[in-house]
Amino acid sequence: MLSESDRMGHQSAMTREVADPIQDLFGVPAMELFASKELVVQHGALERFPAFMRTGLMDNVERLCRGYAGALQVSNGTATDGVQIDVAGAHASALLRLGLTVYFTQLEGALPESTAWLRGLEGALGLPQCAGLSAFANAAGSGLSVHHDRFDQLFFQIKGEKKFHYAPNRFLENPDVQFSPCSAAPPDWAQAYRHGFPLTGDELLAEGLTTAVLKPGSAFFMPAGTWHTTAGQNEEALSIVVAVRAPSRLAIVLNLLRHYAGQSPEWRARSYGGWAAPGPAMTQERQKLGALLADLAERVRALPAGDAYGAWLSEGFTTGTQGHYPMAARFDRYIRLPNSSVHYQPAGASDLTTCIVRSGRTDRPQAETVLAISPEVRPVVDWVLQTRAAFSVNDACRAFEDCDREDLETLFAWLSHAALIRPLPVPEWDGR
Ligand SMILES: [Fe+2]
Repeated sequence: MLSESDRMGHQSAMTREVADPIQDLFGVPAMELFASKELVVQHGALERFPAFMRTGLMDNVERLCRGYAGALQVSNGTATDGVQIDVAGAHASALLRLGLTVYFTQLEGALPESTAWLRGLEGALGLPQCAGLSAFANAAGSGLSVHHDRFDQLFFQIKGEKKFHYAPNRFLENPDVQFSPCSAAPPDWAQAYRHGFPLTGDELLAEGLTTAVLKPGSAFFMPAGTWHTTAGQNEEALSIVVAVRAPSRLAIVLNLLRHYAGQSPEWRARSYGGWAAPGPAMTQERQKLGALLADLAERVRALPAGDAYGAWLSEGFTTGTQGHYPMAARFDRYIRLPNSSVHYQPAGASDLTTCIVRSGRTDRPQAETVLAISPEVRPVVDWVLQTRAAFSVNDACRAFEDCDREDLETLFAWLSHAALIRPLPVPEWDGR
């Protein structure tokens, strides 16, 4: 019924075809490695790493410093005391000469060949787009104090020898926060560490850390929460880190609830009086919220858990965390987006029509998506254009009885990809 530019079709096909990139490096599938929740070190030849990790910009520290234009952080300290801060306006090479550890925070933009590998890793883990690439260059003598990270990560040693000291976290599972006893506690720290925490880095060191000596070609998987320090390196070193920033179950449910309850004016209302001094205004507002919570609890029982995943992808495409619209996802309802438009042109010799969708931000030339549509599709696009409220696939089926439902769903996926429409990825909230 319709096709899109070759470029996009080719990209999505490539993404699907990438094999599990972990299997060859660690000898187990990515899913198994990440499920182990144990630090797993593998040593081998540097050449087994993907070329983008060890050639071009990653050939040596100087080339990386010269070619990288993204954000930087620096850190330094002993095993039990130190800081890591953003820096701007300073060149990475100068920061290394100052004897610091330099953190190249957004490496994937500088290494475009990494994209397919990262998307392959996400695919192998059954995740949406969430993996990021960064690099650490250690000046001799520098390193990070003991801490743990928020996300599971893969670490690849590229240059130099690095002593990596680590220990499992006996305080909690799945922290979902980064934490170091020598830094301020982050906002989500209290609920995670409610059963106990180390007061100082010395407490952690006293329990003993295991040391892995990493050489070019060494790699490890480190689950979130693993205590580690790289303070006091003997020599200059360069490492790549792949952080897999998978959303927590709680994050995807909060997003689901935002899309679901956000349909209700009662939930969108402001809680005036809620913080008032004790009295009728406060009581009334808090009782109202309690009643809404009880109502929501009943409704949530019937919410399909699967909708949380579609809602996450739809939200990510809207906000830009997902680079591509999830073409395979099917939603029951969509809404036409204002400030989007359609322009038709004859498509050469064929009977197809070129449908140019302009959409997105209006403070710059709008994005253009070119679709080739067959004659029977144009009335459906025109029908979508005249809508002024959310419509369902059922509405479209009723309006175009001759169209297959599957074809309409495919069309709506393309129109969502072009941002002419946007899914409402959750069940309809009944009532106002
Ligand atoms: Fe770390």
